Amino acid sequence: MRRLSVPKIQSRKVDGVTAEPVVMLTAYTARTAQLLDAHCDILLVGDSLAQVIYGLDSTIPVTLEMMCNHGAAVVRGSYHSVVVVDMPFGSYEASPQQAYESAARILKETGAAAVKLEGGEVMAETVAFMVQRGIPVVGHVGLTPQAINVLGGYAARGRSDAEAKKIVGDAVALDRAGAFAIVLEGVLEPIAIEATKAVDAITIGIGASAQCDGQVLVTEDMLGMFERTARFVKRYHNIAENIEGAAIKYAEDVRNRSFPGPDQLYQPKK
Ligand code: KIV
Ligand code: NA
Repeated sequence: MRRLSVPKIQSRKVDGVTAEPVVMLTAYTARTAQLLDAHCDILLVGDSLAQVIYGLDSTIPVTLEMMCNHGAAVVRGSYHSVVVVDMPFGSYEASPQQAYESAARILKETGAAAVKLEGGEVMAETVAFMVQRGIPVVGHVGLTPQAINVLGGYAARGRSDAEAKKIVGDAVALDRAGAFAIVLEGVLEPIAIEATKAVDAITIGIGASAQCDGQVLVTEDMLGMFERTARFVKRYHNIAENIEGAAIKYAEDVRNRSFPGPDQLYQPKK
């Protein structure tokens, strides 16, 4: 199986219709990437690794170095999906030049095909600058977690008419700037439907609409790793229970000396 390309994914949307929705999940490690790869179109090395891997309570502290290390691991663990790496807070907002330099470092150090950044109209000039110079970009509008300090929380966006209009306008601005895909996160469903119709880019919903051109979830959320998640998470498994269950059994076996057993031990040859 040859690795998918950005143009291949882009070409899924023809005259505003995406016959086969784009499947995207997050991955931060090589082994997880290996397990998800054949079933996805895009693997996103999300800055959500802040919470999922590092126990941070927002994505603000994430560094370029963290994204490069995890991005490289995911590229090594995959051969089919397009790998997209999130640009961390503070690595792209100041200028198109800053964004280009950070994104170039990510692509050079990881082998990923594209980067994702948050923000709509204000980032349009930057997105155009990057795309014109050979860096495919995914946009991200609506609930943008890197803006936590100005948004004040992770509630759904677009409840006022002005905000709804702004979100659609943000998606259109990114589309015109050349973003090949746009994540729509935590927005009222009619906004997601309107934005999907308004842009040529592939819209990827998370808490948005089944009518988006694709969907994404944080893999560990989808696997049931956490007790509390956003409304938009559907749990397909309860991996937390499995991990705890295994730890309980292992601890018991160690304490009653039934592990290691004969199968796990080396004996001298007779
Ligand atoms: O960081 C992340 O995982 C994301 C997705 C939720 C879109 O940005
Ligand atoms: Na992110």
